[in-house]
Amino acid sequence: MSLLLIAKNRDFTSLKEALLEKDPNLDVEIWPRVQNKERVQFAVCWQHPEHVLDSYPNLKAVSSLGAGVNHLLDDEGLPESTRICRLITYSLKDQMAEYVLNAITNYRLHIPKYLSQKRTGKWDKHSSISKNNAPVGIMGMGEMGQAVAIELVHQGYIVNSWSRSQKDLDGITSFSGQGGLNSFLEHSKILVNLLPLTDETDGILDLELFKKLQKPGFLVNVGRGSHLVEEDLIYALDTGHLDGAYLDVFDTEPLPENHPFWNRENIVITPHIAAVTPAKEAAEVIVENYKRALSGMELMYEVVREKGY
Ligand code: NDP
Ligand code: OXD
Repeated sequence: MSLLLIAKNRDFTSLKEALLEKDPNLDVEIWPRVQNKERVQFAVCWQHPEHVLDSYPNLKAVSSLGAGVNHLLDDEGLPESTRICRLITYSLKDQMAEYVLNAITNYRLHIPKYLSQKRTGKWDKHSSISKNNAPVGIMGMGEMGQAVAIELVHQGYIVNSWSRSQKDLDGITSFSGQGGLNSFLEHSKILVNLLPLTDETDGILDLELFKKLQKPGFLVNVGRGSHLVEEDLIYALDTGHLDGAYLDVFDTEPLPENHPFWNRENIVITPHIAAVTPAKEAAEVIVENYKRALSGMELMYEVVREKGY
């Protein structure tokens, strides 16, 4: 029995070491050098080439190397019988909460404007936006969304959330379903996207949605690049519906050199680093799920294929 790590252009040395430290008896293989495909029962994937998983006849389960699983669900070659799970760790949630808080603080204090003024030696002061005037709306109240929401409430922000099902969390106003979307947007100025990418959420961040925010709004996109209609963001910025955006994920990654987002001072760009799973913590969840998959038990953070997340 072996556990296979699959990703394009990724160094798995530290993850393999962490897995073996957790369980020295594991047989860990790294794609594409697989000795015996029949022995592979569990795979861990990140941006794997499509159909690469078709050739492992005894694959019981596949884990994403992150929280998102759209890359796995999009793979039509992955048999229905193969179970899918994902990696959620304490530090993934903690990093995400820190990233979003930092993006919002930077916006309220006009840090991107000051960085740009520094380049031209300009000493202009801007009044910061108070927390009371910056209600935050979080789309997606799963593992990541909840961690972010709790941190923002702790920091004194007004926090609204939007999810499929209604939530009951201290200090957070919950909106749900299509029926609750408009009201959620009208109550929010800063929009944080932490939805999974599914057929329903693809392209959800569009001009119509931005127009419903308290004007001018601000966008933090840490979900997936395809949630955002890129030309609508440019239009919303040019027409004053949005004041700025903080983007960590993009339709094409790395963001192409000639992309119009690069030249916008009111768009902050980070290279998909909002939350990165540390090897040691990842190994704990992977080994546990590997053992559960072999013994037919329920997996931790198992994905419900019908829901798409
Ligand atoms: P979860 O699966 O735990 O939560 C998803 C949330 O989205 C749930 O609250 C769910 O509602 C809600 N949701 C799903 N579909 C809809 C819909 N159609 N309408 C309204 N709400 C919906 O996901 P995570 O919190 O773990 O992660 C979210 C995403 O964040 C990941 O899929 C990934 O794309 C991204 N991510 C990005 C990272 C980065 O570094 N940039 C790092 C980690 C994650 P309900 O609760 O009712 O089911
Ligand atoms: C994830 C990510 O899904 O890093 O974990 O995007």
